[in-house]
Amino acid sequence: MSEFKAIDNKVLDAKLVGPLALLLGKWQGETGMDIAPEPDGVEENAFYETLEFKLVGDVSNAEEQDLGIVQYEQIVRRKRDDKLIHHQLGYWTWDAESQTICNGFTIPRRVSLLAGGTVEYINNKMIIFVEAENGSDTWGITEAAFMREKANTKSFSQTLEVEGDRLHYQQTTVVDIYGESGFEHTDENTLT
Ligand code: HEM
Repeated sequence: MSEFKAIDNKVLDAKLVGPLALLLGKWQGETGMDIAPEPDGVEENAFYETLEFKLVGDVSNAEEQDLGIVQYEQIVRRKRDDKLIHHQLGYWTWDAESQTICNGFTIPRRVSLLAGGTVEYINNKMIIFVEAENGSDTWGITEAAFMREKANTKSFSQTLEVEGDRLHYQQTTVVDIYGESGFEHTDENTLT
């Protein structure tokens, strides 16, 4: 795998795309588990999802930084009633120079964030770890005033592993909600 075609048909080299190449395509997972906050405690939702990554291309920032870009859409439905319980649109970007990766996304609850981190390879497995923290001037979180007051996202961390045609992720979103601080809203799934 040495070159990639961007949406404008420009040919990108593998160095620019880096680890993003292993994400490309449409993934499906049936064994997801979500732990979410409820006024009277915790809600557990078994879920299934699709996660689709498409190569966008590249961008240069301030004539200095060159990023490879992948866009994605995540659609999550609860098994019990097929209800859409999560939708997410975002970009993964790779900076070959600093060897940093970033998952920047928006969810319709009016929360957006830039989670940044690193990639490592162990045997045939790629392991990505990214995190964001509210108030950070490195990788931060933005939310609407209502959310800041009522359901404040304090931090987000995600580990995503790809090995062949298997993608596994685990993520923790820490939320202050219903008068309690530090609720650990977690999501995990394995996709192929
Ligand atoms: C697979 C991923 C996810 C699933 C399945 C999921 C699902 C849920 C569910 C079921 C709730 C309970 C409230 C409701 O019934 O609507 C909830 C609440 C919430 N989620 Fe997520 N979520 C996911 C990821 C995220 C992410 C990545 C963030 C932010 C970075 C986030 C932020 C929130 C917040 C702030 C709430 C509290 C709002 C409320 O309960 O009224 N979630 N989520």
